[in-house]
Amino acid sequence: MSTLVVVGTQWGDEGKGKVVHLLSEHADYIVRYQGGNNAGHTVVFDGKEFILHLIPAGILEEGKKCIIGNGVVIDPEALVQEIEFLKGKGIVFKDRLFISDSAHIILPYHRFLDRFRERQKVRLGTTCKGIGPAYSDKVARVGIRMAEYLNSVIFQDLLNRNLREKAPILKKICKVNQLRREILQKREELLPQIKGYIVDTSVLINKIVDQGKSIIFESAQGTLLDVDFGTYPFVTSSNPVAGGVCAGTGIGPTKIDKVLGVVKAYTTRVGEGPFPTELLNQTGRYLREKGKEFGATTGRSRRCGWFDSVLVRHAVLVNGLKELALTKLDVLDNLDSIKICVAYRHKGEIIRTFPMSREVFRHCRPVYIEVPGWRKEIKGIQQFSRLPLNARRYIRKIEELVGAKISLISMGRSKEETIF
Ligand code: IMP
Repeated sequence: MSTLVVVGTQWGDEGKGKVVHLLSEHADYIVRYQGGNNAGHTVVFDGKEFILHLIPAGILEEGKKCIIGNGVVIDPEALVQEIEFLKGKGIVFKDRLFISDSAHIILPYHRFLDRFRERQKVRLGTTCKGIGPAYSDKVARVGIRMAEYLNSVIFQDLLNRNLREKAPILKKICKVNQLRREILQKREELLPQIKGYIVDTSVLINKIVDQGKSIIFESAQGTLLDVDFGTYPFVTSSNPVAGGVCAGTGIGPTKIDKVLGVVKAYTTRVGEGPFPTELLNQTGRYLREKGKEFGATTGRSRRCGWFDSVLVRHAVLVNGLKELALTKLDVLDNLDSIKICVAYRHKGEIIRTFPMSREVFRHCRPVYIEVPGWRKEIKGIQQFSRLPLNARRYIRKIEELVGAKISLISMGRSKEETIF
């Protein structure tokens, strides 16, 4: 196997960081293809917990190389902060990090505009990192790419044009001339720390694929946050689905060998938008211990719900998934019985496929089946056959409902807490 795409099948936060970290043992390169520092991958390395937002977690493993593809939007300030943080932990970057020269950059005005929009009547609950405004500029063909950030004359020209265009709104938020000076000054500081990593990554990726290197393409966010296939408009501005890999890195679909979906044993969501499955029963061990879960990037609390097979079936379909990695199964340890959403009820009708219409989705109510829980701690179990019978039945039921096989089960953050 050479090229593997790892995608999230729900609203992000499925535990992709751990799965990628685990599988990257056998990989030469780890590549990101979309999103930006709105992502948050929590990984445990040498007993320590790290949250990475932009740089693939593979950077923590000696000898692995990491690529940030053209489909990613990069905030140079966030990038340098992450590089410095990792260097401080002893991570070596030379010849290990490659950043696309055609990745678009996020500048402070993108963050301002993101926050400005979030104060309007319809909130999307974004991370306010400037992701949406940067992708908007890309599509509107006024964006600034890494290659242009490197060139001071071209950069100044593009910056001026952008600031002129955005001035009517920016004036309400900041002093535009001062902002311009600050951006230029910051660029001088940041550039020496970035420019050594900028290359044409599409050429590099095709070369390493052709050499038969082992590559993992990691998505940020999840299928339901995909701008085309998610719960629009409460989505991110890129394509986390597997199809995003081609446009986000410059490889053709014929070069993708396998796609693995990561799925949580229940459902969570950060941010706004409808959420059909009701909150997890408060006797859930994890919820009782921690009170709530929190998103790795924003620190905002998540809504928790039962496993929603309608959503995951949709993800299986649009990503072409045959295999899944099931995460956080241990969270359900203490429950007498567990509900699974198998369909929605909408105005008296039963819907089994994910409704693309926001109005329909908003009014969908879950139809549940109920299965017995296992009421036993499963952390530490390393063989599928050793799992309690009801846990195995729960896993088999999920496979049957979503139409994909579960090939990996994770029950904790560390590598050891995994069943293959
Ligand atoms: P944006 O990506 O900052 O524009 O936010 C759009 C939506 O995606 C919001 O609902 C965010 O909470 C959500 N989002 C973005 N990144 C992540 C992530 O990595 N995990 C979970 N939710 C995310």
